[in-house]
Formats: sequence, structure tokens, C-alpha cells
Amino acid sequence: MRRYYQGTQLHRARSIAELAELARGRLPHFAWEYLQGGAEEEITLTRNRSGFAQIGLNPRTLVACTTPETGIELFGAQLPVPMLIGPTGYNAMLYRDADIHLARAATARGLPFCLSTVSTSSLEDVAKAVPDVNLWFQLYCLKDARVQEDLLSRAEAVGVKTLLLTSDAVLLGNREWDKRNFVRPQVLTLRNKLDVLMHPRWVRQALWPHGTPTMGNLNPYLPEHSRTAAGAAHFVGAQMDTSLDWDALARLRERWKGNLILKGVLHPTDAERAVALGLDGLVVSNHGGRQLDGAPSSIDALPAIAAVVRKRLIILLDSGVRRGTDVLKARALGADAVLLGRATLYGVAVGGEAGAGHALDLLSNELKLALNLLGCPRMGDLGEAWLHTCRSSRGGIPPCRDHGVAAAEDMPDRS
Ligand code: FNR
Repeated sequence: MRRYYQGTQLHRARSIAELAELARGRLPHFAWEYLQGGAEEEITLTRNRSGFAQIGLNPRTLVACTTPETGIELFGAQLPVPMLIGPTGYNAMLYRDADIHLARAATARGLPFCLSTVSTSSLEDVAKAVPDVNLWFQLYCLKDARVQEDLLSRAEAVGVKTLLLTSDAVLLGNREWDKRNFVRPQVLTLRNKLDVLMHPRWVRQALWPHGTPTMGNLNPYLPEHSRTAAGAAHFVGAQMDTSLDWDALARLRERWKGNLILKGVLHPTDAERAVALGLDGLVVSNHGGRQLDGAPSSIDALPAIAAVVRKRLIILLDSGVRRGTDVLKARALGADAVLLGRATLYGVAVGGEAGAGHALDLLSNELKLALNLLGCPRMGDLGEAWLHTCRSSRGGIPPCRDHGVAAAEDMPDRS
């Protein structure tokens, strides 16, 4: 199967899963595990997909097909589909200048791109290379207040209006593959070094001619001799502010005048606190299953959160989105939009901007087709009535009435 995909062109990947298969063939083992892996037993990682799979759809028939209305307004910007590219660190390990390729692919489709604190291209690099980008910035709170303040000022200087604070990764999750593949930070085991040699195309695309990528945003804070991947990894490890709490978030709210979003919310009480602090949004997220193994899938956590804070702030969701129907289900359960993590990373690993764009197009087209097949061409009409999941409330989604078949009066008027 893998050999078959390797020989085909990017556009022949007909789904995100096929793009993932292509990416797997291109990347050396350590980079593939970095992209794909989760924490410990990968229970949460697996749930992220099974959570979506367990939600059924409840189509209506004889609804004339149209071009579905999928556009939304998000913080004053019109988006053609409710998606954006979420923050992921160290992207140039997959493809040289991957952050810039991702930003270009998103911008060409009218979608925002969120740059990570631990990105390989700097804020300034991305803003310069993609001048019309709708650039969001993800912050990891750092112990050195001057560094954090400088990062915020740099984000403002390049026009960032939306800041996303990630709260679920102040300690790194237990990712055993990382420990297996490296003898120490950024130094591969001999076996992995040999595997790299077996991937000359990746060496050309990711390493040639500058070698291992460094962390663009953090380089200015590192002594010149340690502006290396290992130096930056050490810096991040030492700088991550493990005392991050609600008071720190309140201070950040005071400091950041633009839109402020909390990423890593899985509990309705935390969602309430985010509203009380005056945040503009939250991301229901388990970090793609890379942090606390056993945490609920985001799609399972969403309904209880939406029940308490919907319409009081923007609700975003990530973790496990691989199909247009996943976007549709997230919208039906109360999310305003979804963030893409691995889905667009597979694309960028295979073909840079074109690959990331292909991933976005696949998901957009699937979403539009699904809305027509569902008989709900106006995305804004979606609600739980269009779903017929019947899991116990323990799973997060309240049991549907009438054994899962939504009552006729719950359906928008199709006449
Ligand atoms: C991430 N994620 C992440 N989140 C964040 O806030 N800052 C970061 O630097 C990173 N880095 C990162 C690297 C890689 C390789 C992955 C896969 C993920 C988490 C990311 O923003 C998002 O929450 C998940 O990727 C969503 O899950 P899926 O869609 O990838 O399954």
C-alpha cells in the first residue's frame, strides 16, 4: 500500500488518510513518529477518531442540492469554511520553511494560520513572506517575563490580532517514541541516523543546505553558540512556566488587548472561568492526544462545554479532525470552527504549500458534499437534531430522544 502511494502524485491522495500514508513514506521514522505519535498508550489519540466515528448523521431527503453556505465570520474576518490551521511546533523538520508553506496555503483560501511559539520560522519571517496572512500567534507562557513580553510585542508589531494561550503543555506529555528515537535532545540514535540516510528526498527537502532547523521565534533569546535545535530545546525545557494558572491568565488578559483564546479546555467549569475572565474564545483540545493519555476526546467534551458557554465566546475545537463530516459534527455540537493539526501537516510534509492546500481543499470539498447529502445546505442550520448518536451521557453527548431519531419538530423547516 505504502509503495503504491509513494509513486503517485500529491493530487492522487483522495483523503487525509491517503495524504498521511504518503507522508509516512517520505519522512524518516523519527520525524513520522514526531508527527503522528501520541502519549503513552495513545488511548486519547485513538478516542479522537473513534469519538467522531460514533456520532451518526441523520439525513433528510428530497432537499434540492445547492452550493452549501459554509462561510463564517471569525473575529471580523470572513472565512469560506469554518477551519484554520492550528499551531504546531518544529514544522521545518517535515519540510523546509513549512510554516511559510502552511501560511501561504491558508491565506490563498482565506483562512487564518496560527504560528507556534516553538515554530521554525519566526513571526517576522512569516509576515514578510506572506504579507496578507491572517496571522494568529500561539503562546507558551515562559518563566522569563522579558522574553514573553518581547514575543508579545513582536507579535503585535507584525499585525497579530489573535493570541492563543496553550495551557495543556506546561509539562511535556509522556511520549515514549521521543525517548526511543533520541539518545539526548536532538541527537538521534544510530539506528535513526541510518534511517535518515535511507530518505535522501527528505534530506534534500528538509535539511539541505542549512542542516537541522532551529526555532526561529526563540533564536534572539539564545546565546549565539546555542542557536541550534538542541540549544532551543534546552531553552524551552528550562523556560516553560509550570506555575501557569488562572491568575497568570488574568494578567495576560490585562496585557493583551486583541483577541485572547485559551487552548486546552476540556471541562465546562474551566470554560465558565474563561468567560468570567473576559476571554474571546477557547479551544476544546487535548493537544492531539499528545499530553494526558486518558483525557476525553475533544468531540466528546464539546457538548457539555457548548451547553454552558455557547454564544458567550468563540468555541473552537481540535484533535482528530480528518474529514469534512468531522467539521460538520463539531459545528452541530456547538463549535464555531475547527483547528487543523496533523491534517495539514501531512500535506506540507508531502508537498509544501501545494500539499497543505490539498489537505484544506479535501476537507472543504468533503464538508460541502456532506452538507448536501445530509439535506442541510445551510451550515448555520446544523444542530444536534442532525445527529443520531446514542451514547450514554458519560460519553458527553446527551442521549437523543426517540432512540436517536431526532423529532421532526427539531429539524429546521425544509419546506
Ligand atoms: C502540536 N500541537 C501544538 N500545540 C500548541 O499549542 N503548540 C505547539 O507548538 C504544538 N505543536 C504540535 C506539534 C505536532 C507535531 C502536533 C501533531 C501537534 C497540538 C496542535 O495544536 C493540535 O492541538 C493538535 O495537533 C490537534 O490534533 P490533530 O488534529 O493533529 O489530531
